[in-house]
Amino acid sequence: MNKKIIVANWKMNPQTLTEAKTLLCSSQSGLAKSVQAKVIFCPPFVFLNSLRSLIAEGFYLGAQNLFYENRGAFTGEISPLMLKNLSCEYVIIGHSERKKYLTETDELINKKVIAGLKAGLKPILCIGEAQKQAEGMTDTLKKQLQINLVNIPERKLKNLIITYEPVWAISTTENSQPCQPDDALVAKLFIRKLLFNFFGRRRAERVPILYGGSVDSIIAADYINQAQFDGLLVGGASLKAGEFIKLVKSID
Ligand code: PGA
Repeated sequence: MNKKIIVANWKMNPQTLTEAKTLLCSSQSGLAKSVQAKVIFCPPFVFLNSLRSLIAEGFYLGAQNLFYENRGAFTGEISPLMLKNLSCEYVIIGHSERKKYLTETDELINKKVIAGLKAGLKPILCIGEAQKQAEGMTDTLKKQLQINLVNIPERKLKNLIITYEPVWAISTTENSQPCQPDDALVAKLFIRKLLFNFFGRRRAERVPILYGGSVDSIIAADYINQAQFDGLLVGGASLKAGEFIKLVKSID
């Protein structure tokens, strides 16, 4: 059985390198001996270089975004090659907060996925509907995936990870509501079917599908056991080492 994947998305936290080192080291030391899952830490860009030497065996480093060119006049951007050179293996692409605050489009996200794959990174592509309505879910997921995955090099599909992230269930969304594991399972099966249609069963069944949205140590195992996700993308609960350790252990 493949290892479950847990992505710790720290978002724009914490505020100092000292805190970032403490969070990373305490999370790892609480898990080191027992961890069965593949745990990927995604801190803000500015901490990547300092944290990479602290990543323990069996843990992985990821970024939260990238630009789609490797070099050039793109003020403020970070290239796939720079991430690769920092020992980053994974990169979150298309997170809903980037769509909301930075108006990232599906076309832009597609360029980023292609650039990430070409550079040898493993993109964690986020998709999900903004509002809670069952009919809207399938249309949104289909449209997002159709655009986000245009022209991706099929031989690199094995490096792609998809996260179903219903925006209305993210802890920091106003009036957020939990997405019940049964509802998440419906979305997961729909995503899997779309991938089969796009790439054929053999290639598509190897793409892990994760769940993200207000996951904590109490409910985490339900998304794995009941809703059959291949892993989780964890925001708020990854910022407290104790809670994160409990969460990861709960699915082991
Ligand atoms: P959350 O974030 O766990 O704080 O809800 C999840 C996400 O960003 O997808």
